[in-house]
Amino acid sequence: MAIKINKTGVEAMQKTAPAFIDAVKWENDRLIILEQTKLPLETSYEELTNVHQVWDAIYHLKVRGAPAIGIAAGYGLYLSVMNFETEDFNQFWNEFQKHSDYLASSRPTAVNLFGTLERMKRLVLAAQGKTVSQTKQLILEEAHRVKTENCDICQGIAEYGLQFIKDGMGILTHCNAGSIATASRYGTALGPIYLAHEKGMKIKVYADETRPLNQGSRLTSWELQEAGIDVTLICDNMAAMVMAEGKVQAVFVGCDRVARNGDFANKIGTYGVAILAKEHHIPFYVAAPSSTIDMATASGKEITIEQRKAEEITCGYGKRTAPEGIKVYNPAFDVTPARYVTAIITEKGNLYPPYETGLTKLFG
Ligand code: MRU
Repeated sequence: MAIKINKTGVEAMQKTAPAFIDAVKWENDRLIILEQTKLPLETSYEELTNVHQVWDAIYHLKVRGAPAIGIAAGYGLYLSVMNFETEDFNQFWNEFQKHSDYLASSRPTAVNLFGTLERMKRLVLAAQGKTVSQTKQLILEEAHRVKTENCDICQGIAEYGLQFIKDGMGILTHCNAGSIATASRYGTALGPIYLAHEKGMKIKVYADETRPLNQGSRLTSWELQEAGIDVTLICDNMAAMVMAEGKVQAVFVGCDRVARNGDFANKIGTYGVAILAKEHHIPFYVAAPSSTIDMATASGKEITIEQRKAEEITCGYGKRTAPEGIKVYNPAFDVTPARYVTAIITEKGNLYPPYETGLTKLFG
């Protein structure tokens, strides 16, 4: 069920001192998500009451961004067993595993999804000997924990990343790694920017539009404008020019999975931005919460890249912009090799090359 917040996108854009919009929250046995496909025209929430709705919300990017997907999956798993009436632990376990596999099939790239499912699995296995009702309660508590931990993590990233920002800087970002991609006020890649703004620094952000689903124009430019931060929207193919004109002194991006060697997957187009940054001698920073670091994956070559429907490119937002029957390639993410990354910002500190050493020390 959709719940509309009492303001239009236009009214929202005129605000300068926003309240924190919690993109994923749990209320009265329901998962309430900010419906991100409706932004910026409409700020509305949707109530999810079963695991199928959660799968659908993740697949259709109503809830999106690696941390938010991981949080939604925890609550989705609880919803999947919440009304299951059995005290037989084996039956419960089978049901739990079936729904966990189902949620895992929603989107393949963000490791946060799999991290949460794995964490829940370990919790349920360790709960053997407890009643099914007690185990369900543990799952809900763990889902809350995934969410609150994310808030602390984003705060840590904002604080560590702040040292890379100087007053008056121009910063380019790609996709949306802000507040609404997480469940925190700061988000990941936008965290240091929000903090710099809070400290009174004047920052000028360039937000890539981020084709084909426009997370940059619909979401990043919206949330930064809401926060009163100076943000300028550019098409993806303008980044080179903006850099050449000397308008950008740093790039900050988020990520969906960081491999052990520091290669990382993020929204399609990130790799191109990294190459451009290197060419223009601009530092390129990746904000990576520990939940997005995948030490089991040796390098970017092993990361599964989500392929999405052709219509997202040929018929974006309902209007056909390509001939019927055209062949389309639509990977949702690309992998940026570690050699393009100036530093990885984590909640435990900033890492510099060689990344495998630092990542293993902090997260191994
Ligand atoms: O397809 P999306 O919108 O889920 O892609 C999101 C991104 O690529 C983000 O940059 C990434 O998940 C980091 S969010 C803190």
